[in-house]
Amino acid sequence: MSFDLIVRGANLPDGRRNIDIGIKDGRFAAFAPQLPGEAGAEIDAAGYLVTPPFVDAHFHLDATLAAGFEGRFNESGTLAEGIAIWSDIRGRISADNFRTRALAYCDLAVSQGLLAIRSHVDVTDPRLLSVEVLLDVKKQVAPYLDLQLVAFPQMGYFSSPDMPNNVVRALDMGVEVVGGIPHLEPTGELGHESVRRLTKLAAERGLMIDLHCDENDDPNSRNVETLAYETRRLGLQGRSAGSHLTSMHSMDNFYAGRLIQMMAASGLQAISNPLANMFLQGRFDTYPKRRGLMRIPELMAAGCTVATAHDSVLDPWYPLGKADMLDVAFMTVHAAHLSSHAGMRDCLRLITELPAAILGLEDYGLAVGNHADLVVLQASDTFEAIRLRPARLAVVRRGKVVAETPRVESRLSLTGRPAAIDTFAIRAGI
Ligand code: FE2
Repeated sequence: MSFDLIVRGANLPDGRRNIDIGIKDGRFAAFAPQLPGEAGAEIDAAGYLVTPPFVDAHFHLDATLAAGFEGRFNESGTLAEGIAIWSDIRGRISADNFRTRALAYCDLAVSQGLLAIRSHVDVTDPRLLSVEVLLDVKKQVAPYLDLQLVAFPQMGYFSSPDMPNNVVRALDMGVEVVGGIPHLEPTGELGHESVRRLTKLAAERGLMIDLHCDENDDPNSRNVETLAYETRRLGLQGRSAGSHLTSMHSMDNFYAGRLIQMMAASGLQAISNPLANMFLQGRFDTYPKRRGLMRIPELMAAGCTVATAHDSVLDPWYPLGKADMLDVAFMTVHAAHLSSHAGMRDCLRLITELPAAILGLEDYGLAVGNHADLVVLQASDTFEAIRLRPARLAVVRRGKVVAETPRVESRLSLTGRPAAIDTFAIRAGI
């Protein structure tokens, strides 16, 4: 059999080692040790881990790389200051600036093997300039990156008389997911009402819904309960997600246990943002400082589809980040105590197959017949990939290499020691 591309000697996340991957017409055609046959091109992955591409289920492409815009930085590190800065600057950002930052981030994402992003886009500004630009960016990057947009009323659905219409206008323009932020509504009751209105809108239009929900340290912030109830009542199972859910960290265990069972029974998906949540939450605590994280292992054990996402990179909410989903996995190991080997394998699933399911990506994953999309990492297995967050040696999309990074090594000038070392190869047990 002839192939367009063969990736030789790959280690796979399921534990198989030294597997050849045959690719034909943009799809996976064979996985086998020492695959016979010829190929137009080969990638030598001997000893390296090959994963499906990373997927970010929660991001803000309109705000990314805007940290320091007009000299404004979030000095307090709070969610409130981030929102205040963004509210002040967004009306003065030009279309060119939105486009330049979004495309630059997509370039960075591809270099890191991140090939699918769900991005919220703020619809507060009635011009909907960022919506227009990001819909255009979505078309431009489509050959190499799946971009899914969420109509996001950043200040709340009831924050102004225009907002419900702005959400609908964005959906009419082509945005495919309904967004919201119930915990930021003027009253608790309006928060629940926003969930009812937005889930109804999603159901009527046959769309997915993804609400920023209960992103605070208040154990009584319980909009997720209404979201789970409406998801089940309206038949939105499998296309309704609650993002953040940080209040869940502070809830008492009895209520949290009941809520988790209700979420699982409702088919509600949950998207955590460990980097941004660890940074922004707990800011009003003295000691101990709460982690402000949804209960990831417990939700997974109950059968919920959970993803971990980046949320922000270099924006008014989070001043760090480099489009590296392995940074998210690394933080998840610590913050969610997913530290066993099985837990680490889950941390990889939380940035690959699980968010792919939430986005509804078709033909995703390392299996015959699926799109030939993969990442070759300079690490031997899942544990090492999360520990090292190493170089992405090759990123393949539809059978074509879209990004490459040379193998990293460090040169040493030490008497009696090697002249160069592969820092990613020094591990326990060598
Ligand atoms: Fe967010």
